[in-house]
Amino acid sequence: VTGFVYLVGAGPGDPRLLTMRAYELLRSADVVAHDELISTEILALAPPDAELLAVGRRAGRGATEYKLHPEVLARARAGRHVVRLKQGDPLVFGRGAEEAEELAAAGVGFEIVPGISAALGAAAYAGIPLTDRRHAGGVHLSSGHQPVDAPSRTDTLVLYMATRRLDACLARLVDEGWPPSTPAAWIAAATTPSQRVIVGTIADLRVPAGSAPALLIVGEVVALRSRLQWFEQRALTTRRIVVGRTRAGRSVLAAQLRALGAEVLEAPPFDRAIDLVALPCSASAHLLDDHPHLRNPPVVAIGPQTEAAAREAGAREIVRATPHDLDGVVGAVMTRLAPRAMEAAS
Ligand SMILES: C[S@@+](CC[C@H](N)C(=O)[O-])C[C@H]1O[C@@H](n2cnc3c(N)ncnc32)[C@H](O)[C@@H]1O
Repeated sequence: VTGFVYLVGAGPGDPRLLTMRAYELLRSADVVAHDELISTEILALAPPDAELLAVGRRAGRGATEYKLHPEVLARARAGRHVVRLKQGDPLVFGRGAEEAEELAAAGVGFEIVPGISAALGAAAYAGIPLTDRRHAGGVHLSSGHQPVDAPSRTDTLVLYMATRRLDACLARLVDEGWPPSTPAAWIAAATTPSQRVIVGTIADLRVPAGSAPALLIVGEVVALRSRLQWFEQRALTTRRIVVGRTRAGRSVLAAQLRALGAEVLEAPPFDRAIDLVALPCSASAHLLDDHPHLRNPPVVAIGPQTEAAAREAGAREIVRATPHDLDGVVGAVMTRLAPRAMEAAS
């Protein structure tokens, strides 16, 4: 039996940016061989009995003799269906082509599933169009590891993997004739709740050191962010909420809170500061028994029974939803965490 390898793009970070094909393959994978950057939230979509193999390299660390990880080939040769999950798109600075060449040479069947590349995800979530007929006729994707072969200065330039060489890359652009006043944006952890955007010019852009993946967008289009910014404007952006669950599957409440910008945690570890706990049914109050520190933040209870269960489980402060339904829970969360947005909406 010969197995099969799916070279799948996982997108830039937000699990909701997975393609339907990627989602479908992940849900039925035998083996998921993934890059280091892939989030636990995306990996959690694999079946509980799927084998998870971390096979990626970060920032070119660790010399390897292989293009495709030997374990991937071994699993495929053993007849398994392997999802080789890569950040962004497999064929954009992802070495997907080299892995596919090895599969072809080994006679193993493969399929390539595109993903939203970091440049597209970062641009959309930062409110920066990569092309715009008033400001940029084209876009040039480049790697900060290589010297920048600057495109025409009417194009937008995106530099992946540029943080460590940022100063050298910016200096080189000036040497190549880009005006130092050209707007530039550094975007880290794009499309995730930790997304960070710093805007400046080629001359004055300064960015913090850190380990989050980041890229640079250079060009006049960056100035449009002041009008197109949306990600940071959502009512619950920067808020972290735990949603109590009693069964697996999609939680409507979690989806609604995410759409309002909250970072929603539905399963442990709850190891970061939590702003609020939302309990959509009385059975979900057991969360407070299992994780005593979740008794400290305000708890929104869907109705009187849930309120009683939360009180019994030791919740310090309980906010009751009115009406006693999911809309009521969302309203109570907003009143508590984003009162000004609530006032503006009423
Ligand atoms: C080895 S490349 C992989 C690119 C990937 N195949 C793609 O299409 O996005 C890794 C680089 O992608 C960029 N990157 C990936 N995810 C990102 C994110 N969420 N935010 C910003 N940059 C990201 C960073 O420049 C990082 O150094």
